[in-house]
Amino acid sequence: MNFVYARSVAPEGKPTYPDRRSVLAAGLSALAAGLAPARHSHAASSASLQKLAAEKGLLYGTTISAAQIKGDRPFIDLVLQQAGLVVAENDMKWEIMNRGSPADDDYGPADVVAGFAKENGLVLRGHNLLWYHRTPKWFFDLSSRQEIERSIVERIRQLAGRYRGTAHSWDVVNEPIEPKDGRSDGLRTGVFLEMFGPEYLDLAYRVARETDPNARLVVNDYDIELDAPEQEARRVALLRLVEQMQRSGTPVDAVGIQAHLSCTGGPPFSAPRLRRFLADLAALGLTIQITELDVTDEGAPADQAVRDRLVADTYSRFLDAALDEPAVKMVVTWGLSDRHSWIVRHETHQSKWREDGLSSRPLPFDADLQPKPAHEAIAQAFAYAPLRTPG
Ligand code: XIL
Repeated sequence: MNFVYARSVAPEGKPTYPDRRSVLAAGLSALAAGLAPARHSHAASSASLQKLAAEKGLLYGTTISAAQIKGDRPFIDLVLQQAGLVVAENDMKWEIMNRGSPADDDYGPADVVAGFAKENGLVLRGHNLLWYHRTPKWFFDLSSRQEIERSIVERIRQLAGRYRGTAHSWDVVNEPIEPKDGRSDGLRTGVFLEMFGPEYLDLAYRVARETDPNARLVVNDYDIELDAPEQEARRVALLRLVEQMQRSGTPVDAVGIQAHLSCTGGPPFSAPRLRRFLADLAALGLTIQITELDVTDEGAPADQAVRDRLVADTYSRFLDAALDEPAVKMVVTWGLSDRHSWIVRHETHQSKWREDGLSSRPLPFDADLQPKPAHEAIAQAFAYAPLRTPG
């Protein structure tokens, strides 16, 4: 259970592992910082996850929002200390940007996030160009194929064009897989497929490539991490999709693995199974990004130390397996502090999914910006990760 010893089962012959004692020493000082009594002081002494990641050729980042940049300086200082990459949690989603009619999008918040990245020398990740779940209402009323195509193309040209040359990657289509929808190819029958057909994928990726030739084009999806038949079906469908895209010349560079994990219940985790999936993706010449990592403590005991340990342990097990694959180039946590997590309700600070009304503790730093065992677990996973070429 103790994450510090998780690497004792790591495969032999990984010459790039650092000296265990120096890693443990760094870990102990970070842990000491986490136990410091000054609950509201800034977590300035905790090791920078980005620094540790960069030593291994990895990029580490987090979500942010324009509202946080404008209104939560202590949190933003922590982002600057810990992250080398940022992604807008919601500010670049179509339905969020759109004012209610075609070609009427508000780029204000998205520009704040992109500007923040630029000013601070951070890598910008684009999320996302198309997502069935955040498509403006008016789009559903379009009837001519021409109009549908024009709207998709314009959306991609406008957004990817605005940040051309600055976006490292784009989630071009977010969550295209859903075998439960019953199609033989496992594609989700969301708005784009229903209104345009499966060719929407080819259209979107081609237009994205034309618009920003240097951005890595990503297929991003969830529930592809664990050892369950439903997740295996999703992995198979995703592999078939990217193979099919490659066969037909649709540009795709990377697969994004969201990795919204849970520390209790749910399907089991199998490191060999995850490694095999990642190796299959790598064999296709794709890079892999861990794009939305967090660990919900829904269902875990109320005791905070126990919860924190279970969450940290889940980060360790997942990252130890994932980072063994050198095609994995990026790890993004879906937030940095429990203060700003989609799992925690902003108004009440209660977890969305815990039944006891407690707040959730899914991220590396707590709501007071103090590092938790999860931070230590991620730091150690980076410190022990094999070296890779950045990508
Ligand atoms: C979530 C945000 O974190 C929430 O604030 C919002 O209310 C809903 O969307 N998969 C994704 C992300 O690709 O965009 C989602 O983000 C979480 C699941």
